[in-house]
Amino acid sequence: MSEIIFDYNRARDYIEEHELEYMKPRIEQAHDMIHKKSGPGGSQLGWLTLGEDITEEDLQQIEQTAARIREMAEVFIVIGIGGSYLGARAALEALTGTFANYRFSENEKGAPVILFAGNNISSKYLADLIDLVQDREVAVNVISKSGGTLEPALGFRLLRSHMESRYGKEGARERIVVTTDGEKGILKEIADQEGYETFVIPPDIGGRYSVITPVGLFPMAVGGIDIRAILKGYRKGSLGFNNPGLEDNPAYQYAAVRNLLYNKGKIIELWVNYEPAFYYLSEWWKQLFGESEGKDSKGIFPACLNFTTDLHSMGQYIQEGRRELFLTTLWSPKPASEVEIPQLDKDDDKLNYLAGKSLHHVNESAFQGTLQAHTSGGVPNLVVEMPEISAYYFGYLIYFLQKACALSGYLLGVNPFNQPGVEAYKQNMFDLLGKNK
Ligand code: PA5
Repeated sequence: MSEIIFDYNRARDYIEEHELEYMKPRIEQAHDMIHKKSGPGGSQLGWLTLGEDITEEDLQQIEQTAARIREMAEVFIVIGIGGSYLGARAALEALTGTFANYRFSENEKGAPVILFAGNNISSKYLADLIDLVQDREVAVNVISKSGGTLEPALGFRLLRSHMESRYGKEGARERIVVTTDGEKGILKEIADQEGYETFVIPPDIGGRYSVITPVGLFPMAVGGIDIRAILKGYRKGSLGFNNPGLEDNPAYQYAAVRNLLYNKGKIIELWVNYEPAFYYLSEWWKQLFGESEGKDSKGIFPACLNFTTDLHSMGQYIQEGRRELFLTTLWSPKPASEVEIPQLDKDDDKLNYLAGKSLHHVNESAFQGTLQAHTSGGVPNLVVEMPEISAYYFGYLIYFLQKACALSGYLLGVNPFNQPGVEAYKQNMFDLLGKNK
């Protein structure tokens, strides 16, 4: 039995049992396309077996380099965009302290403050970042599979210049780690020429499916996350979600149900969390599904909401706006920390009715109350339940979502592993910038 639960009871009014029956042969066909690597993008399925393919030697290199960086750096900057940073950021935010990055002074022996760059082209962002790290001990990990993406390339150029003027070329070399393709690309050439320590991104894994490679694992290790537990969960996921049978595979149920809803006009999926630490996990989910499915003039539009915060901005729309959406909530019944609500002698805020209860109990009541309200308001609700917020279940969930996304893309009839549309803006931008003139 899977440890991640997928519950679509609150969408059953929109789905007939026979519709799921009719999907079974298509699911088996899509399953075969994935496991035989015979469908479009079949050369990009290396992530299916990553749990087994990562060697002890790979893990030790990641852990040893992470220990070296932790020793030397107060600030560690991860430079990358899209699939080259969202997974690492998702893990770091979900699995380390909410305010870990506000603890410069206490962190001398522990994890450095971890910041991100190369995911925008804002001059304010980079100027403020360089200003912040001016007098701090810095290390960077620049991540780019193609090695030529403009945002991280510019971020790296600026940070490398800062580091070389601060530490000299030799000193900077010790503080720069590159994660890129093993054979080709400008970043690979720079790393070889300069002698930077390098991690290789396997050629058969695309950016948004690469969090369980050094792309995600190395920054996680610098942040003190147990990457072996992540891998253990990922491996467990590969056993749980590799079954072709719809009844036994929650990842396939999620893929099937969201496709049925889409075919009935529910074209927007809102991915909801009740945990601020899941903000970047939601962003990672949004990229995974948006870039994998939005093509050939079709695809569910993925958007993320953070509850209960966004109930006070978007709750009205969900309850009473256009009925083209469905919600998928990521819920964990076990919070990472417990906080008990105190009893006050003078009940001046009239909250003593909650005294002795946990904040999590209140959050759970908000979750249940919201599910009921939105379901009765005509919005199908799906729930993905992860037993607890831990490295193990993070890895497990990543496999669940990657597998669901691959299958969902094939059910939709698209190639879930390419992103041809991303090139359009780049071409125009490069023309405007006069590249290659
Ligand atoms: O999923 C993808 O392939 C993309 O989101 C890439 O990760 C993103 O565009 C960054 O590409 P690169 O790692 O080549 O710089």
